[in-house]
Amino acid sequence: MPKVLISDAMNNIAQKIFEKNNINVDVKTGLSEEEIIKIIPEYNGMVVRSATKVTKNIIEAAKNLKVIGRAGAGVDNIDVVTAKEKNIIVMNTPGGNTNATAEHAFALIMSVLRKTPFANETTHKGQWEKKNIKGTELSKKTLGIVGFGNVGVRLSHLVKGFDMKILVNSKSLSSRKKDFPNVNDVSFEELISKSDIISFHCKSTADGKPLITKEHYKKMKPTAYIINAARGNIVDESDLNDALNENLIAGAAVDVFSKEPAKENILFNNPKAILTPHIAASTSEASIVVAEMVANQISDFLLSGKKLNTV
Ligand code: 3PG
Repeated sequence: MPKVLISDAMNNIAQKIFEKNNINVDVKTGLSEEEIIKIIPEYNGMVVRSATKVTKNIIEAAKNLKVIGRAGAGVDNIDVVTAKEKNIIVMNTPGGNTNATAEHAFALIMSVLRKTPFANETTHKGQWEKKNIKGTELSKKTLGIVGFGNVGVRLSHLVKGFDMKILVNSKSLSSRKKDFPNVNDVSFEELISKSDIISFHCKSTADGKPLITKEHYKKMKPTAYIINAARGNIVDESDLNDALNENLIAGAAVDVFSKEPAKENILFNNPKAILTPHIAASTSEASIVVAEMVANQISDFLLSGKKLNTV
């Protein structure tokens, strides 16, 4: 009977699906790399979200592992190259948390434009900051979406009705252009200089370097906002902090960090930055869907060799 380790907290539907399929399953979360290395030889499958770092050391110790499933989209916490060398399949659950992530990006946009966290915090304290809070409207503004995969596309759909112009910078959009007549495919330089809100929905670069540098901020509108609900290393936090402090841009909202969990970060306490702890995909709905998808995919692979959503 195959055996699977679930090493990150996720909806218990995953466990139930494995049990229904007569696959042995252990749920052991919060383990260190050393602890995983000790137990991983027992398992044929492993299921993670983003907390477990599936390192080269873990994969090399995983003598019986056939598949690693990511209940989510990003696989940057998994050493995919080493997994491939060891003939271990890596799969994710694309689409499973797309709507959740796009909705959170939209919530961040609204929060930063209307200063909702500051308004909430001060009102709770009995300070009536009405005259100090002036928001910005979305209507007639330009939204720049960097990366036009599932989440970027969904965000472009969510803002329909807000009367916005949408600019997109994407490697793959030109081949799909006819499906998106209302968005304009532009260079990164054009997007950053013309957009009022720039929202990142792309993968990290292969070399891990940030997409946006100090020079870019100088070309942006001083009234512009940056939203990052993609990956922490896409926007260098120190450069972003400087850009906010030097008034090169108006504000930022960030859900992802270069180091997670973020216990300390240069952006902490910057009043122009709204921060959330990588919760874009954390909805009741998405957590069920990704757990269900990953458990079904891994079961199918372990029981019948069927491969779905391999990366
Ligand atoms: C993803 O890559 O799917 C998202 O960033 C969500 O990550 P999480 O599963 O850790 O919430």
